[in-house]
Formats: sequence, C-alpha cells, structure tokens
Amino acid sequence: MNILCPLDSIPDPGAREFRIDGARVFVVRQGGQVFGYVNSCPHVGAPLNLEDDKFLDLFQTSILCANHFALFEIKSGRCTRGPCTGRSLQPFPVEIRDGEVVQKA
Ligand code: FES
Repeated sequence: MNILCPLDSIPDPGAREFRIDGARVFVVRQGGQVFGYVNSCPHVGAPLNLEDDKFLDLFQTSILCANHFALFEIKSGRCTRGPCTGRSLQPFPVEIRDGEVVQKA
C-alpha cells in the first residue's frame, strides 16, 4: 500500500501534487472524497498547474488547466470546456484508508 498523505493535509476543497516513480500526479479533495489524476493535460500533454498544488478554478468546482484554461469535472476528469473538450485526464486511482490518502493497488 502506497500512502500519499493524511487526508487532512489536503485543503477542502483543494489539491496536492505528488511524484510517484518520477510521474507527476495530483489528488483533489472534496469533503470526504478524493480523486486522483496524472498531471498531464490531454490538450498538449503539459502539466496543468503553474503554481504548486493549484489545480482548481476560481470557484473550486472544476479542475483547471492553467495553460489554455480547459476545465475538467473533478469526479470524472472529463474536459467540459476548452481545447480538449470531451477528452479526459488519465485517472490515478486513490482512496482513503484510516484517514490517509493511499494509491489503490
Ligand atoms: S495544455 Fe491544457 S488546455 Fe492547453
């Protein structure tokens, strides 16, 4: 089991980035739920964030790609607006166990 961090170390709502075996991934928290994705925009493959751990839009209701402002549903990773509409972020499956965010096996 790969423990990433305590759930409480991620703002609610908010996000946090991790490096796993050289790959950049991030986890978004909404209350007691977490959603993980690879930090690569389906538009051109660039990391979504320009600032550390900043992955949400102004309203904290969507994932934002800061490069060309694509928006993605937090729960599904599907792009709802922007140059990659209809495409999806690559999931990085995570879950909460005993108050810790862990990578799903
Ligand atoms: S790189 Fe994400 S919208 Fe262009």
